[in-house]
Amino acid sequence: MRSAFTPILMWSLLACVVAGCSNSGTTAATRPAFTREQLMDPNTCKGCHPNHYREWASSMHAYASDDPVFIAMNKRGQREAKLGEFCIKCHAPMAVREGYTKDGLNMKNAPASLRGVTCYFCHNAQEVTDTHNNPIKLADDTIMRGGIKDPKHPGVHGVAYSKLHDGDQLESSKLCGSCHDIVTPSGVHLERTYAEWQASVFNGRGGQTCNRCHMDTIQNAIAADDPEVQVPTRTVHMHLFPGVDSALTPFPDAKGQKVQQKAIQCELAPAVLVFELGPPAPNQLLAGLSEMPVHAVLETNAGHRFPSGAAHDRRAWVELTAYDANDKIIYQNGNIPPGAKVEEKPSSNGPNPWVFRDKVYDKNGKPALMFWDAVPQPPDPNASNCDTLPETNAQNVTMHSCEKSYGNVPARDKTARLRLQVHVQPVAREVLDSLVASGDLDPALADKMPTLTLENSILEWTSKDGDNPITSAVPNTLDCPKDVQCLLYPDLPSCSSSK
Ligand code: HEC
Ligand code: HEC
Ligand code: HEC
Ligand code: HEC
Ligand code: HEC
Repeated sequence: MRSAFTPILMWSLLACVVAGCSNSGTTAATRPAFTREQLMDPNTCKGCHPNHYREWASSMHAYASDDPVFIAMNKRGQREAKLGEFCIKCHAPMAVREGYTKDGLNMKNAPASLRGVTCYFCHNAQEVTDTHNNPIKLADDTIMRGGIKDPKHPGVHGVAYSKLHDGDQLESSKLCGSCHDIVTPSGVHLERTYAEWQASVFNGRGGQTCNRCHMDTIQNAIAADDPEVQVPTRTVHMHLFPGVDSALTPFPDAKGQKVQQKAIQCELAPAVLVFELGPPAPNQLLAGLSEMPVHAVLETNAGHRFPSGAAHDRRAWVELTAYDANDKIIYQNGNIPPGAKVEEKPSSNGPNPWVFRDKVYDKNGKPALMFWDAVPQPPDPNASNCDTLPETNAQNVTMHSCEKSYGNVPARDKTARLRLQVHVQPVAREVLDSLVASGDLDPALADKMPTLTLENSILEWTSKDGDNPITSAVPNTLDCPKDVQCLLYPDLPSCSSSK
């Protein structure tokens, strides 16, 4: 500790010589401190934290109460089930805490300080008292808490180190997790990302916190671009928070959409590991058959299930295609066109597509599309641990994969190549259609919902692989997180070589 402290002290002294400050710290004592009101507005941060601002502004956190799917669903929920502040207290927490809204229906003209999950909300968080439904306590002061252990004092706001923010501390997952875990008013534990992470091997020694996987780092950068404070170079954390959801309307920053799409591609690429694809070992019985069995084994690398969170709204599925020697398609399963319904009924030429999603039911036992309709269910004896891909936990460290056999792919003398891909619809077509039908969502926006492909999940078996199932992905052109960082900051040293 001591040896690390000395150079920082010298930096401070040097800064004082240069800036001519009179006291011993680097506090720019001449400028007035911001009020709490000012600090609530993300625009206040822009001047000194332009990169943090820019990234956040292209994240779902900034967009959480502008998201047209959220607006539509909340509007309908208020009409059908009088949800009050239930939804908006997570999607725009400051608007509720400042008394601006009681139901989120009046957010259209809300000031920037109250929209979405703001800088102030995260950086003023002091304590987390429970595991779900946003139980985060703010200090309501003017101190910005973060993961930097030795922050310089900017004077304009207080600074403090906090374990709740430091991604090196397991405790930091509480801050994220307690909002990323929902128990509905009817008692359904609907979104369980935090609970899944808590049960996982990532919540242990040498583990991985939410920040580690969702906040890429940039080394040798500055945390504040402040002419009045000499700041050292540090490792900073990107604020794009990519998952699977994206903005359906433009972000304020013209490049924002592109940056978000790339970040999502990067986050999703390695999410599913295809362990094995191909026909089983040679078997005399298979010799004369016109069809061959194909076996696929998948598992997730995420720190929780795949998909997680709003997994009742998501549809992830596997597409399997067989080609003959002329590259003509001779078998397809799960070839669902972008934006179409991912139907779980038998396809014409084989088993149902292999789909990963959560299922919730209403009081009549019918599948529920809107989450206020969901009611707690007795444990389903037919539920499979593979409805969504399970996280690695203490019980399944060596076996957390899910597998499927496709029985009727044309035999080996016909199939020259097999290709497997995993896709995901962030919000299912039927959920969007239902919101359009109730008059709450613009159909043109519903049609903008992308269908994504997990790029590291693309696997090919060819007849050259013979009896051996293959286990490694088709190489892709992604270079992450560099691709994202260079889109935002082409001047980074690591980006010049690729130009
Ligand atoms: C006038 C410049 C200025 C403005 C405006 C400003 N900051 Fe800072 N901030 C700084 C400086 C300087 C540091 C210290 C950076 C360092 O030590 O590397 C800092 C540090 C921080 C830290 C790190 C604390 C830690 O210990 O990890 C956070 C978080 C932070 N600011 C958030 C904000 C937020 C949120 C806003 C807007 C509400 C904001 N800042 C506005 C200059 C500013
Ligand atoms: C969802 C919560 C969240 C939001 C919203 C958020 N931050 Fe952060 N921020 C964090 C966390 C967590 C860290 C610390 C990461 C770590 O150390 O592992 C951090 C770190 C920082 C730091 C310290 C330097 C660094 O990169 O580690 C600054 C400065 C900062 N944020 C500024 C901002 C500004 C400005 C905004 C809004 C434009 C903002 N943050 C929005 C969670 C958030
Ligand atoms: C105040 C509650 C709140 C806190 C605290 C919070 N989040 Fe979020 N987060 C949200 C909401 C709401 C959304 C979704 C917005 C939308 O899609 O409309 C979201 C979206 C995300 C997404 C994108 C999800 C997707 O499907 O694309 C990621 C990743 C994420 N958050 C990670 C984090 C991490 C990491 C932290 C902790 C540093 C954190 N969040 C803290 C509320 C929160
Ligand atoms: C080991 C890395 C890792 C850790 C740890 C991790 N995540 Fe993720 N997360 C991912 C990957 C990869 C994806 C993309 C695949 C997916 O959608 O599951 C993802 C997706 C998400 C999503 C999108 C939801 C969806 O449909 O899957 C959210 C929200 C999210 N993570 C939040 C969190 C939170 C909150 C934590 C901490 C409690 C966390 N993550 C911990 C890797 C991680
Ligand atoms: C405990 C905090 C919390 C509450 C309460 C909450 N949300 Fe969210 N919401 C989130 C988080 C976190 C995400 C991102 C989850 C993910 O990506 O898996 C999200 C994502 C979403 C999304 C985008 C993904 C999707 O499923 O379409 C919509 C829309 C949404 N919420 C609507 C609502 C509505 C409507 C309500 C009230 C009925 C509500 N939320 C209540 C935290 C919350």
